[in-house]
Amino acid sequence: MPERMVATSWLLLIGLAAAATAVVLQARAQPDSIGFISIDCGLPGTANSVDDATKLSYAPDAAFTDAGSNENISVEYVTPTLAKRYLNVRSFPDGERNCYTLRSLVAGLKYLLRAEFRYGNYDGLNRPPIFDLYAGVNFWSRVNVSSPDGLESLEAIVVVPDDYVQVCLVNTGSGTPFISALELRPLKSSLYEQANATQGLVLFARRNFGPTDATDIIRYPDDPRDRVWLPLVNTAMWDVISTTNKVQNLDKDPFEAPSKVMQTAITPRNGSDNITLFWDSEPQPRFPTPGYILILHFSELRLLPSNAVREFLIEVNEVLWRTSLGSTSIRPDYLYSDSFYRTAPLLAAARYTVHINATVNSTLPPFINAIEVYSVIPTTNAATDSSDVSAIMAIKAKYGVQKNWAGDPCGPKTFAWDGLTCSYAISSRSRITAMDLSHNNLTGSIPDALSQLPSLTVLYGNNPNLCTNADSCKPPKRKSKLAIYIAIPVVLVVLIILVIALLFLFLRRKKQADVCCMCHSGSTSTNHNTVKPQSEMPMSYASAPLPQGDTYTQSSLHLENRRFTYKELEMITNNFQDDDRGNQIDG
Ligand SMILES: *[C@@H]1O[C@H](CO)[C@@H](O)[C@H](O)[C@H]1NC(C)=O
Ligand SMILES: *[C@@H]1O[C@H](CO)[C@@H](O)[C@H](O)[C@H]1NC(C)=O
Ligand SMILES: *[C@@H]1O[C@H](CO)[C@@H](O)[C@H](O)[C@H]1NC(C)=O
Ligand SMILES: *[C@@H]1O[C@H](CO)[C@@H](O)[C@H](O)[C@H]1NC(C)=O
Ligand SMILES: *[C@@H]1O[C@H](CO)[C@@H](O)[C@H](O)[C@H]1NC(C)=O
Ligand SMILES: *[C@@H]1O[C@H](CO)[C@@H](O)[C@H](O)[C@H]1NC(C)=O
Ligand SMILES: *[C@@H]1O[C@H](CO)[C@@H](O)[C@H](O)[C@H]1NC(C)=O
Ligand SMILES: *[C@@H]1O[C@H](CO)[C@@H](O)[C@H](O)[C@H]1NC(C)=O
Repeated sequence: MPERMVATSWLLLIGLAAAATAVVLQARAQPDSIGFISIDCGLPGTANSVDDATKLSYAPDAAFTDAGSNENISVEYVTPTLAKRYLNVRSFPDGERNCYTLRSLVAGLKYLLRAEFRYGNYDGLNRPPIFDLYAGVNFWSRVNVSSPDGLESLEAIVVVPDDYVQVCLVNTGSGTPFISALELRPLKSSLYEQANATQGLVLFARRNFGPTDATDIIRYPDDPRDRVWLPLVNTAMWDVISTTNKVQNLDKDPFEAPSKVMQTAITPRNGSDNITLFWDSEPQPRFPTPGYILILHFSELRLLPSNAVREFLIEVNEVLWRTSLGSTSIRPDYLYSDSFYRTAPLLAAARYTVHINATVNSTLPPFINAIEVYSVIPTTNAATDSSDVSAIMAIKAKYGVQKNWAGDPCGPKTFAWDGLTCSYAISSRSRITAMDLSHNNLTGSIPDALSQLPSLTVLYGNNPNLCTNADSCKPPKRKSKLAIYIAIPVVLVVLIILVIALLFLFLRRKKQADVCCMCHSGSTSTNHNTVKPQSEMPMSYASAPLPQGDTYTQSSLHLENRRFTYKELEMITNNFQDDDRGNQIDG
């Protein structure tokens, strides 16, 4: 078959850039927004910016992230029609990972996330960076902003495991990560069944056939879910079929393609041609062989006379697709949106070719209204237990601990927060098991939240004040000890654990109410786990009553099994009062 006879088109997602700068959509009154989060990253102040096209309101990003700085794009990249959210960016010169936290979601529900990057030479370096983007603890995509005026728009459909989701930018050593806008849209769980708890969908292409103007982008409010449908225009090869009638979604429609998108379709200009579409696989650093999900949308827009038949087949890389009834011939319904897709990714290939061919009995050429292509990403990295997260967030807020405390505390492992030790288990959430708060100049009492870390068995404070009023709490000033402290600052202090251990040892053994506090001076070896108490004395609060209703593991004194309550910590540590000695070890 000669090439020229085939109406062929590239499907590749070409940047929104040209179109976005000149997008013209009818202004419509904005209905009450339903669960959208729209963030204009880098927007200073407290006032929202309103998008001219969608009338959606974009919030400044200060409430969603605690790092980075606001920057304006360079004036030479500011055009009159440029959407306001692209005028400024937030850039993250510090830290390997920086995140936005989107809250008030519903755990287990499906969301569309869209992150937009328009560099605009904001840093004057004229060198667009390359960095990684994560949805929570799972790798989403590499961001490669190829030109200063290009727009990189990345979209993912994910099931969020918690009532919040974090979007993180990771510095890969190829320039400073930045972001222009971040959007979240709720999706019904029944939509895009290929996105579930263990896999997400990353948008590769979403194309609407029919518009003859390349700037004719459809999104909210025409698509109530604010998917962005880019037109694919090829007037040389295709004729447009269109209707002004509403195209209905089926009951339990798996995609709910918007009527505006379905109201136009293309058909080969030469009625005896077929439709051929193709795209080439785009390997990602993490996914050298992406698994692609293909979704084709059809609706018959002509009321056909009784002697006319429009029937076609779909062939993808030489595989004929069958309907649920086993037939290879498809006759789309009049003014109803119908979709053809597979739940499993296509067989891997370098190029994917889709033929939509009229069958021998068809009297009319084939057509197509819209197409979506996604690649599949695993979302199997377990996030930290959400109650551990809220507890550690409270501790972070209380102490203003900065370090690299951004994103999920434990995951992925390579980005776990400094000072935290976590347990990682297959198919369950990570838990925080140890915390080293030393060298943070902590002051005041510890937050209640600490008691909500049930797996926390070791707490390093490196703070001799934890045993106030007791001279023996001070470590002996022995040079060798000091050296160990310096060598292994993590090792010591906060004897809460030992205190509690001893506390219960005494309780169990002696069944008396006296509470003793043991203070230790440090490790006698380089092994972190061989901290030994060196002195022991009853404390002034020895007769304080035990907190009620605590839940201690019964059988052993193993610290790993201990739980402690805030009240206990407060009591034992004399309310964690700081006496200005800071972190100095030997006071
Ligand atoms: C960005 O531009 C606005 C107004 O155009 C100005 O008020 C603001 O100071 C600029 N911000 C930076 C970081 O240059
Ligand atoms: C980034 O994009 C440019 C231009 O599209 C390409 O040449 C380059 O290989 C890409 N780099 C990476 C690391 O993906
Ligand atoms: C998600 O979908 C994939 C592919 O259909 C399937 O293998 C996996 O078991 C599903 N996961 C869940 C949690 O249903
Ligand atoms: C249409 O296609 C047929 C067969 O592919 C070909 O013979 C014919 O010349 C084409 N017509 C035009 C007008 O190009
Ligand atoms: C269109 O597809 C049909 C059925 O697959 C085939 O018989 C026909 O030759 C194709 N037409 C062209 C012009 O390729
Ligand atoms: C569909 O048509 C194309 C050319 O238009 C042809 O290469 C392909 O073999 C046809 N597929 C089937 C199943 O006939
Ligand atoms: C085409 O139509 C004839 C007559 O109606 C029918 O016998 C035949 O099965 C049809 N072929 C296909 C592929 O549907
Ligand atoms: C702790 O406080 C001391 C003295 O105020 C200061 O020099 C040091 O930089 C602080 N350390 C941290 C980690 O904030």
